[in-house]
Amino acid sequence: MRILLLCSEYEGLIKTGGLADACRGIAQGLVDAGHQVTVLLPQYTNLYSRPTGVWHSVYFHLGGRPLGCAVRQLAQTSQGGVDIRLLEHHDFFHRERPYDDGDQGYADNPLRFGFFCKAALEWCRQYLPDVDLIHGHDWQTAVTAAYLKQHYAEDPVLGRVPFVFTIHNGAYQLTAGAEWFGKLELAQQQDHFLNMLEQGIRYAAKVNTVSQGYRDELLSEPAANGLARLYQQRQADFVGILNGCDYQQWDPATDLTLIKNFDSTDLSGKVACKQQLKARFHLAAADVPLMVAVSRITGQKGYDYLIPALRQFLALSKVQVFIVGSGEQHYCRQLYQLQEDFPAQFRFFEGFDETLAHQTEAAGDFFLMPSLFEPCGLNQLYSLKYGAVPVVRLTGGLRDTVVPWPDQAATGIGFSDVSIAALLSALQQAEQLYLQQPAYRAVQLRGMQQNFSWQSSVQSYIQLYQQALTEQFSRT
Ligand code: ADP
Ligand code: GLC
Repeated sequence: MRILLLCSEYEGLIKTGGLADACRGIAQGLVDAGHQVTVLLPQYTNLYSRPTGVWHSVYFHLGGRPLGCAVRQLAQTSQGGVDIRLLEHHDFFHRERPYDDGDQGYADNPLRFGFFCKAALEWCRQYLPDVDLIHGHDWQTAVTAAYLKQHYAEDPVLGRVPFVFTIHNGAYQLTAGAEWFGKLELAQQQDHFLNMLEQGIRYAAKVNTVSQGYRDELLSEPAANGLARLYQQRQADFVGILNGCDYQQWDPATDLTLIKNFDSTDLSGKVACKQQLKARFHLAAADVPLMVAVSRITGQKGYDYLIPALRQFLALSKVQVFIVGSGEQHYCRQLYQLQEDFPAQFRFFEGFDETLAHQTEAAGDFFLMPSLFEPCGLNQLYSLKYGAVPVVRLTGGLRDTVVPWPDQAATGIGFSDVSIAALLSALQQAEQLYLQQPAYRAVQLRGMQQNFSWQSSVQSYIQLYQQALTEQFSRT
């Protein structure tokens, strides 16, 4: 199959979170399975320095405005056989950050990404005419589904191409005033506003999200953030496909960012990684468990109750905690305060640092992920592999990937209630488990031996593509 993958992030090129990892995992997995994959993403500021080759220009009208862009092919260096194209529009995408100025979402996001979708289709029909299927990711690519149905039903190329839509996070929908239907040339529903994510769910041939657990949660409110009826309407075409872990990038046995490598047969390297991280951040050398987190600092990740729970926990125990992340300032301020109040036990590193993310996974005895909701979560998969026993709230993809202690097959610690008390008790359970070394070690090693490779996820995507193609064929 020849697949065009539309996304707004791609690991190694531009990343704000797991969307980047997942898009690369899927693209690479499809290529490894023998398919031809072209990835199209916006050319953000950091991508201008990349060497490019073949380029095309595309012109069209949208909402009465003449628009145009260049689409450049990234020079093939380390992209593993994936054909990467960058869509260049200086005003829309020559920006440091993909979606916001660090504080607020850009006001022209509906236009930027509506344009991206329309331009992608215009480019595709001219320059990728043998495409079999288009696969879009999250709200940034969602209106492609509407355009295919509303603008290109009779097009000789695009009229036969199904669109598969993957939701990595149903909470990010991007809504805009009803005037945007006209500005983006979209058929207006009765709604008072345009919801970009909704356009993808409504018009895609097939829809999926990134775990079975989250898929089921989206069928009702409040998890669906107002779209439960639509998910229910599309239930027959809506599936869960768990993300994978790219073990080429995330394997402590080969990870070049680590001071010493390790695996489940020899954990001495992990001890060295823990010592190194503690020394770098001036945490006392005491032999106490180190709990870590790497995350976007947002409400989704549970900071509203994680911070007060840590405050109580640190006062009661000697455990050390290290958090690396960036995001909402009101949480960052509270994390700095925690560091001031518990200087021997708590460190917060504010920033987006991929090397440090790897080193933190390697150093941690436990990984904290008390998410309010989690479509899949990749960090717990990395933590399992790196022997940082995940402490998770049992929701969405976390429930699907971590078996909670004291189950015989336990790979982590789990709890259900969104409450300080429940989280505190999970943290205490983790500390207790660490003290019973043989039991802790068994949980840790079992986690390290799990296999969540992209191969099986990609097989599920291929099946979904085949269903979409069969149904499209029987309609035309
Ligand atoms: P989400 O996509 O909701 O942010 P995931 O667990 O799926 O959560 O993926 C998060 C990804 O982003 C992981 O690859 C993680 O290492 C990375 N990440 C998050 N915050 C940071 C940070 N501050 N520095 C480096 N990498 C980060
Ligand atoms: C989103 C979700 C996360 C998921 C990632 C990749 O950012 O929040 O749970 O793992 O996308 O699919």
